[in-house]
Amino acid sequence: MTTVDLPLLPLGRGTDLNSERGVECPGDLPAASDPELVARALAAKEKLGERVFVLGHHYQRDEVVQFADVMGDSFKLARDAAARPDAEYIVFCGVHFMAESADILTSPSQAVILPDLAAGCSMADMARLGQVEKAWEALTEAGVAEQVVPVTYMNSSADIKAFCGRHDGVVCTSSNAQAVLEWAFDQKAGSEGGAKVLFFPDQHLGRNTAVLKLGLSLDDCIVWDPLQPGGGVSAEELRAAKVILWKGHCSVHGRFSPDTIDELRAEIPGVQILVHPECKHEVVLKADLVGSTEFIISTIEAAPAGSAWAIGTELNLVKRLAAAHPDKRIAFLDRTVCYCSTMNRIDLPHLVWALESLVDGQVVNRIEVDADTAHYAKLALQRMLDLPGLSSTGTAQDD
Ligand code: 13P
Ligand code: SF4
Repeated sequence: MTTVDLPLLPLGRGTDLNSERGVECPGDLPAASDPELVARALAAKEKLGERVFVLGHHYQRDEVVQFADVMGDSFKLARDAAARPDAEYIVFCGVHFMAESADILTSPSQAVILPDLAAGCSMADMARLGQVEKAWEALTEAGVAEQVVPVTYMNSSADIKAFCGRHDGVVCTSSNAQAVLEWAFDQKAGSEGGAKVLFFPDQHLGRNTAVLKLGLSLDDCIVWDPLQPGGGVSAEELRAAKVILWKGHCSVHGRFSPDTIDELRAEIPGVQILVHPECKHEVVLKADLVGSTEFIISTIEAAPAGSAWAIGTELNLVKRLAAAHPDKRIAFLDRTVCYCSTMNRIDLPHLVWALESLVDGQVVNRIEVDADTAHYAKLALQRMLDLPGLSSTGTAQDD
């Protein structure tokens, strides 16, 4: 995680992005993106033409976003990748699990490229296949595996998605977690003892969805800690639970706190708190609206001039929203400036290198999922994509 302290701001612990802040630079600021690199990226993209399709996640840096053919959250980008069978090269400006999903959903003749292989995801790394298999063994020993549908968040490695594919499970994203969980419970509705979901890797998305969207209670959910023997839970607890949440979290969204919400409400009259469902349950409970990245964007776009917002999601996106809506007051829901360090690994030099290599006929940093893993991961992804009526936006908490 990259953390940078901002100059002191008038807003206590939140960071007001559309207000006066700190000391102005007295001289000329250098260009936000190196003009020479911008020209090289443009030239390479022009040479490649329709052969290349550049996807950009909303958490990417500005210097990268300007070259994206399409922007989106992880659900939209998965669909966009699948909808471009003619593009020879898919350059994915996002993180590793997203590029893997794009490779799974595109044809073998298309090359998916991640400009910097260090762009991983700490949350995805919190669930390893061996650990998930151990949890499944424990469910089997407790006599409940037959009742369980495994659901993995998109933010997981391809082998975890394949595990779900093999066990009649499914993938979800923050845009569609409610619909996917409802589908999962339906699959085992008739089973003796009742349906259960094993949800990984993000305990917060799982808990927020189960409790706030499906109406389950906190007592219906238990947490499986992969670092504890037996997950830190008893067979009896496994039998009683409706949702078994993996002990994983996002190191960016996990930072937001209920205290900051209280402070911002006291300081900004009428402020509305808008957060991503990867935030902790106690944060989501205090928020006015919760939804996926696409939902956060569409909410701010539709908001009236003069409205005030504090947003709990990745900072590149929040800063872009503040810049695009100077008529609205937009604060970041954390006192410390915190970007997703792995999303930020994709920078202009890496993008230029990837594009120019393609111009020279060399495919660098190709992300290839082996055929067997891809087959089963695709089953789980396709079950999600086939669910009827899914849009690429989230929903308000009180929908
Ligand atoms: P979405 O793109 O599904 O909103 O997920 C947020 C995120 O953390 C991506 O890494
Ligand atoms: Fe992973 Fe969180 Fe970064 Fe998304 S924002 S890539 S979940 S660490």
